[in-house]
Amino acid sequence: MLWHFLSILVATPLGLTSPVSPRWSDLQVKHSWPNVPRNWHCEGPAPEGTTIDLRIGLKPHREDALVEALHEVSDPAHEKYGAHLSKAQVAALVAPHPDTVDLVHAWLDHHGVPASSVSPSHSGDWLTVSSVPIDQADALLGASYQVYRHAETNETLLRTVGYSLPAALHAHVAVVAPTTYFGGPRAWRRTSHLTPNGRILPDGDAHIQAEIAKLQARPGSLATVPSSCGSTITPSCLRALYNTSTYTPAATSKNTLGIAGYLGQFAIHTDLKTFLTKFRSDAAAANFTVVKVNGGEDNQNDPGIEANLDIQYAESISFPTPNIYYSTGGSPPFTPDDNTPTNTNEPYLDWLDFILAQTTIPQTISTSYGDDEQTVPLDYAQSVCTLFAQLGAQGVSVLFSSGDSGVGSDCVSNDGSNRSMFIPNFPATCPFVTAVGGTTGVNPEKAASLSSGGFSNYFARPSYQSTVVPSFISSIGTQFSGLFNTTGRGFPDISAQAENFQIVVSGRTEGVAGTSCASPTAAAVISLLNDFLISQGKPPLGFLNPLLYSTGTAGLNDITSGSNPGCNTKGFTAVKGWDPVTGLGTLDFGKLQAIVG
Ligand SMILES: *[C@@H]1O[C@H](CO)[C@@H](O)[C@H](O)[C@H]1NC(C)=O
Ligand SMILES: *[C@@H]1O[C@H](CO)[C@@H](O)[C@H](O)[C@H]1NC(C)=O
Ligand SMILES: *[C@@H]1O[C@H](CO)[C@@H](O)[C@H](O)[C@H]1NC(C)=O
Ligand SMILES: *[C@@H]1O[C@H](CO)[C@@H](O)[C@H](O)[C@H]1NC(C)=O
Ligand SMILES: *[C@@H]1O[C@H](CO)[C@@H](O)[C@H](O)[C@H]1NC(C)=O
Repeated sequence: MLWHFLSILVATPLGLTSPVSPRWSDLQVKHSWPNVPRNWHCEGPAPEGTTIDLRIGLKPHREDALVEALHEVSDPAHEKYGAHLSKAQVAALVAPHPDTVDLVHAWLDHHGVPASSVSPSHSGDWLTVSSVPIDQADALLGASYQVYRHAETNETLLRTVGYSLPAALHAHVAVVAPTTYFGGPRAWRRTSHLTPNGRILPDGDAHIQAEIAKLQARPGSLATVPSSCGSTITPSCLRALYNTSTYTPAATSKNTLGIAGYLGQFAIHTDLKTFLTKFRSDAAAANFTVVKVNGGEDNQNDPGIEANLDIQYAESISFPTPNIYYSTGGSPPFTPDDNTPTNTNEPYLDWLDFILAQTTIPQTISTSYGDDEQTVPLDYAQSVCTLFAQLGAQGVSVLFSSGDSGVGSDCVSNDGSNRSMFIPNFPATCPFVTAVGGTTGVNPEKAASLSSGGFSNYFARPSYQSTVVPSFISSIGTQFSGLFNTTGRGFPDISAQAENFQIVVSGRTEGVAGTSCASPTAAAVISLLNDFLISQGKPPLGFLNPLLYSTGTAGLNDITSGSNPGCNTKGFTAVKGWDPVTGLGTLDFGKLQAIVG
């Protein structure tokens, strides 16, 4: 039974009032897994003296205020469209009720947590409690923190299979982390090898550029994409395909493009220079800024394929727009014999906490990381998703790759029932980000079979999908019935090329595939649109989806063939209109420019 906290106020000698103390021992489960998550094995308790930094997400005083404000400023039909909120306005919307803060402090105090170890986030919606001894964390959360090791990666983590909170806190606390999230973002990059029809271009893309020049010279011709782009993707291919070639950025003192990187992935300056010299020589002078977050490093001798891919395509399409690479730490393997309390392993939260505290935030941000939605605890996923909404409300376009496993690769539920199901990916399923799926080929572009897509089991269908998604679902009848959630948020929203990308790593050119290619590509095109708007004295696009699903659809190339097999099925098929393989389609900069301008 739920024990309700009675706010009976008792006068104190100082004239202050304080509530009757709740029963802190009345614990109720907040989140727990039926089994230890797959591939993780318990190695036993943490060594004596281990401490952990806990983050406590507080519920806002006004539950729907942020999402309502986000929709107002992101819906082209709303009078407040483009009137993005300031950091202070967002902080006011997400602020917890003072009683919430008092109650959480009273609980921590009851357990002997010194007030000096508790610090609020910029908006006051999160508390960080530093260096909590493990036995104290166990007592606070009715938890049992243990060391777990991953069978394949050998990574070790300090986690608990379940955690609880006093009943009186459930209405006030959204999530505590790290607790039951064993995952951590994985880079969605399928391969660092050429796909069979791929090849390395010895002359960069000189012959592709020559082909484009020839095509453009034809009188009356629309920009057509060279057929060689069907087997090898270079920046010239993407600039022709997405119609950005003729645009010159004009707001480079204000507009920036951000790439969020994790897992010790470093983007290499000399590789970018080699790449640009070879594939976009007019941009060879471009460089990017590295911002280190929470102990993130920048080892220029340790190239990350993901990081190089992201920065090379973001830069070569958006040039001369300044690019920022965020190297976020906080995800080192937990070293059982090292008592440093930095083993939080919650890099999304670290990065979001950092970026939301900045005075200026890039107008467009791409992230090519994600995880199976079902491995992310619901309370954690909801809290992180809300932080993406905070970015959107401030006018930031947040793009995520949709994933590389079609409708799923490991298609069994982890709720204890082992039922067969398609596996959606988070954060692509968060309704406040723009999820980017994959395409391949040209004339026409088709769905890439790796492109992850489907329906969330955590997030309900957002209003901007209320027409196109039900119409797709009814079009497939009972096909795949029971394998996906018909009321969930459909993803991806859009798509971009995702195979046969030429990149430079340690000076050598290689080919890669994955929606990791698609997200920075789409983000760079969006960044050019933001440049255009800013140069016209207009606000940037901010959260994209309400635009993309309404007036923006006319500026997209609908992808109508291909599918995303997985889970021993043929997967969904790309059709006219939205589909859970390629979303609404790929971006046409020229057309979108006319729509948003
Ligand atoms: C896993 O890590 C431990 C030390 O943490 C080491 O002893 C062991 O050899 C590693 N195993 C593999 C397969 O790398
Ligand atoms: C790019 O920036 C980095 C860091 O600021 C610097 O070390 C490097 O020399 C620059 N590279 C070029 C080609 O300008
Ligand atoms: C589900 O699968 C796990 C791991 O294979 C197994 O231990 C468990 O017994 C299964 N549960 C059911 C209900 O079949
Ligand atoms: C389907 O999605 C809704 C959210 O739209 C959720 O409440 C429900 O639990 C999901 N069903 C399953 C079986 O996961
Ligand atoms: C590209 O953009 C131009 C406007 O800049 C537009 O007229 C054209 O239709 C767009 N698409 C193609 C395929 O050229």
